[in-house]
Amino acid sequence: MRIQVSARNRAFQFDAATGARMLYAGLAAGIHLPYECGTGTCGTCKAKLISGEVEDAWPQAGGRKYLKQAGDVLMCQCIAKSDCTVEVANFVHSMESGACMPSFGRATVTDAHTLTRDVTRFSLRLDSPCDFDAGQFVVVQVPGVPGYRGYSMVNFDRAAHRLDFVVKKKPGGGASEWLFNGNVEGQQVDWFGPLGAATFFPNLGKDILCIAGGSGIAGMLSILSRARQERYFHQFSGDVFFGVRTYADAFYLEELEQLALEFPGKLRIMIVLSDEAVPAAAQTAHPALLFDHGLVHEVAARHMQGKYQNVRAYLAGPPPAVDGAIRMLLLQAKLTADNIRYDKFS
Ligand SMILES: Cc1cc2nc3c(=O)[nH]c(=O)nc-3n(C[C@H](O)[C@H](O)[C@H](O)COP(=O)(O)OP(=O)(O)OC[C@H]3O[C@@H](n4cnc5c(N)ncnc54)[C@H](O)[C@@H]3O)c2cc1C
Ligand code: FES
Repeated sequence: MRIQVSARNRAFQFDAATGARMLYAGLAAGIHLPYECGTGTCGTCKAKLISGEVEDAWPQAGGRKYLKQAGDVLMCQCIAKSDCTVEVANFVHSMESGACMPSFGRATVTDAHTLTRDVTRFSLRLDSPCDFDAGQFVVVQVPGVPGYRGYSMVNFDRAAHRLDFVVKKKPGGGASEWLFNGNVEGQQVDWFGPLGAATFFPNLGKDILCIAGGSGIAGMLSILSRARQERYFHQFSGDVFFGVRTYADAFYLEELEQLALEFPGKLRIMIVLSDEAVPAAAQTAHPALLFDHGLVHEVAARHMQGKYQNVRAYLAGPPPAVDGAIRMLLLQAKLTADNIRYDKFS
């Protein structure tokens, strides 16, 4: 199917294979169509269907609440049934040469094991290698569950044959039930990516602030991994605030402590417990980590006071935690929007 997109600045054309979502087909063709979640909740990929016929892959999508006019569609959920023309209110550009181009792939699930009562990790062994930037995510379609789910990479690698993920269980959630209740080892999944703009590049030239809620630590670990490879913290500092409910809900503490030990005085990593006071055992077990009690963005605000001169912030996790952190960084810290990069795990 031939898709024509009329954007504010110019028009683009690309082909969409049978069954492919319009957004993914456009991104795979190197066209930077607007999106945020890639999975039907945020409304950012809104477009107006001018001509042609589309199928809506998920009529109940939460992002449909942002569609105000007849003919509005979510490009991440619509599948062209004929040649189509859509109008997008945004400026749209081609992807820069050298950018990690999204593509479709197949992969096998490996190394799935639980980390806490409701957090598990797993890896995908890719049928063909993939380049991605630190802080990006892919969308994954698992057997028997309709739709794609976004998962941020924990690792960082070029020409990666393997992607690592950490996932918090959503009770009753489609992919959660599949991942937590079945034997997923060796199962085949479809994926598309990499996606996302909450990316870190070593030429950033700024101190880094990471605020993560729960499995939101995934993309931060990828960023820290790249920063470590490039010895970024020899020159710039890093502050990481990792929010969980209780000490028993925290994970990857050994890995985080190792990082803190590698860059003493430059990389500070704080575990923030929202639902209990910090147990004495926590500090004894992890002397190189810091601990505090409260809501993660409020604790970050307290500890970061007066330290925002040259900072890029990365935020990820449940939408209320990310929204709280964005408000704090805009109003209190006076960071510019460009220096606040986030993924809401909606
Ligand atoms: C950019 C991004 C990165 C993310 N990274 C992570 C991560 O690293 N770790 C993590 O734990 N979570 C992450 N999430 C959240 C994750 O994608 C899932 O939303 C969460 O795991 C719950 O999925 P579920 O299938 O269990 O729940 P469900 O409630 O079944 O589904 C949750 C989401 O899946 C999509 N969806 C549901 N049903 C359909 C359908 N019928 N058709 C199409 N789409 C549907 C929607 O986007 C919905 O919000 C991320 C989300 C985003 C947007
Ligand atoms: S990108 Fe389509 S709803 Fe978020």
